[in-house]
Amino acid sequence: MDRRVIPSPMDTVFEFDYAVQAEDMRSLYEKAKRDQWNASRDIAWDTPEPSDGRTLADELVDIYGSPIWNKLSEKERVELNQRITAWRLSVLVYGEQGAMLACSQLVDTVSGTDQKFFQATQVMDEARHNEVLERYIATRLNGLHYPMPENERVLFDSILSDSRWYIKTIALQLVAETFAVSMFKMMAECAHDPLLQEVCRRILQDESRHMGFGMLALPEVIREASPAEHREMEDFTCVAIEKVLTGFFPVDAYRDMGFSAAQIREVQAYRRDVAARNDYAVFRKYFKRDMHAAMVSNLARIGLLTERVRPRLAALGIELPSAA
Ligand SMILES: [Fe+2]
Ligand SMILES: [Fe+2]
Repeated sequence: MDRRVIPSPMDTVFEFDYAVQAEDMRSLYEKAKRDQWNASRDIAWDTPEPSDGRTLADELVDIYGSPIWNKLSEKERVELNQRITAWRLSVLVYGEQGAMLACSQLVDTVSGTDQKFFQATQVMDEARHNEVLERYIATRLNGLHYPMPENERVLFDSILSDSRWYIKTIALQLVAETFAVSMFKMMAECAHDPLLQEVCRRILQDESRHMGFGMLALPEVIREASPAEHREMEDFTCVAIEKVLTGFFPVDAYRDMGFSAAQIREVQAYRRDVAARNDYAVFRKYFKRDMHAAMVSNLARIGLLTERVRPRLAALGIELPSAA
């Protein structure tokens, strides 16, 4: 699949007032211009590869420490480590491309010069993220890619085909980027390959700015929404969170390792069991806590942590502070 075409009827808003209207947004734009980095110049691509061939910490492989893992040879463990990295990075590359496309739509549809200027910088940021991750895959993983997971495809189809800017921003800058910030933080700390750590640290520098756009732009539209619009925003938020948090399993990576259908079922059962016991390695536990806490506090800040939303988050295993 070389490309995917998504129809999207949208209004393009041409602004004629270029004066600063939203100072916080304009200063986010200033920061974005100041902090641009360049993957061709600023990343040490000649960093030597880890001598043991691993790219991620083994603990990020789902079956690490399981009976199936213990039966693998050292060579197989290295191969699985690399395949899982390729799978995770493929998912992120699709996300970066999707973010670039969504932000290019936001440049069109959003009102306000400050908002348009900032979105123009995010288009560039996401292009660089797409580029740098792709370059890492080419450099370290022989260009190995895995297909786009169904949940990610459905999420981006809905972001890119909805004409309303705030629906795109809820799914992208609020939900997906809150997730991405915690994910890149974890990978910046736990990647086994120092080159991957560096790539993740660089991406992370930009992601919190992107989340900032949602935090600045959304409160007003949420405050002014009619009850029906408010409910729609809540529902869309919950669906986006469900899509981001569930349904991701690197089945193709295990298949390529030669795992049988029965072995793959064993892997899935082991994953479910670990999740039920929350028996993850320390940094995965930290990632989950960090991401859940950030999601809850961001939703609260913009006015979407409502009584309709709370039980749906709880059903996803997200811990909530009491409503009082
Ligand atoms: Fe990004
Ligand atoms: Fe981003």
